[in-house]
Amino acid sequence: MTAQSLKLAGRVAIVTGAARGIGRSIVQKLANEGAQVIANDLDAALLAEGVDKQTQQGLTVHALAGNITEQATAEALVSTALERYGDLHIVVNNAGYIWNSAAVKHTDEQWHAMLDVHATGPFRLLREAGHHFRQQVSTDPPGRLRKVVNISSISGIYGAATQVAYSSAKAAVVGMTKTLAREWGRYHVTVNCVAFGYIDTRLIEPFEDQPNRVTIKDRDHPVGLTAAQRESAREMAALGRLGRPEDAANAVYLLCIPESDFITGEVLVASGGLMN
Ligand SMILES: NC(=O)c1ccc[n+]([C@@H]2O[C@H](COP(=O)([O-])OP(=O)(O)OC[C@H]3O[C@@H](n4cnc5c(N)ncnc54)[C@H](O)[C@@H]3O)[C@@H](O)[C@H]2O)c1
Repeated sequence: MTAQSLKLAGRVAIVTGAARGIGRSIVQKLANEGAQVIANDLDAALLAEGVDKQTQQGLTVHALAGNITEQATAEALVSTALERYGDLHIVVNNAGYIWNSAAVKHTDEQWHAMLDVHATGPFRLLREAGHHFRQQVSTDPPGRLRKVVNISSISGIYGAATQVAYSSAKAAVVGMTKTLAREWGRYHVTVNCVAFGYIDTRLIEPFEDQPNRVTIKDRDHPVGLTAAQRESAREMAALGRLGRPEDAANAVYLLCIPESDFITGEVLVASGGLMN
């Protein structure tokens, strides 16, 4: 396959939460298909390591570390895409983490942290990108659409015990997707959402006695599933397995290619057929 025949040749993408897990696989997939990618994460060292490896494979990926909840990061991501690669065609809002507890034990800080990273951060990045999309609409060649893919979760659709803040934030992502799809059709942008089921990243890593912990901005959060929980997640899925980060990235990719140009405002559930 020549570079020009790749599905995303000439397309410029931003992917948040790209140092590990699903985000890293999304960067790999989009770049493999010819996109020039700005990869963002809070974890600057791990992001740089991943981007180095991707660059060594001949892929065009640029690391831009920063906290997606800050307006300055949204501005830097969009301006870097424009300055470095001359345009912006694809935005994938993937950064996130879980902070679980019984609803009555949720603190205000916990509530706001979940809303900030899953809803406010994506909103700020899309508001920034939207200025560019609106400006470009008069010069875009006919037929070539820009793409937004927001990441939600089955928790945001069906709910999940211990995730009142997380699931509320992931449901907000669905509302944002549907509203921007309606507003931005006229800018030749499709806006869709992928809601993942269980994808095998550190968020659902197996643990025995004590949950694993991840550090986000100097706070430690318990994550992971027991072997029994993972087994039950497998059993609930029609395909009988958990997802791999590559499965998740493939679902995002479908909503970035021209074949999905008539699909907007939709939520694609990528869960291996998880029945609620
Ligand atoms: N793994 C699953 O089973 C699952 C299921 C449903 C939805 N999701 C969603 O998929 C997305 C990716 O999750 P994952 O499983 O790959 O997790 P992960 O922990 O493996 O990777 C998430 C990345 O996001 C980064 N990040 C977190 N907060 C950030 C911030 N404020 N600014 C920039 N980067 C930040 C982290 O540093 C991390 O590298 C998340 O939005 C998550 O809620 C995951």
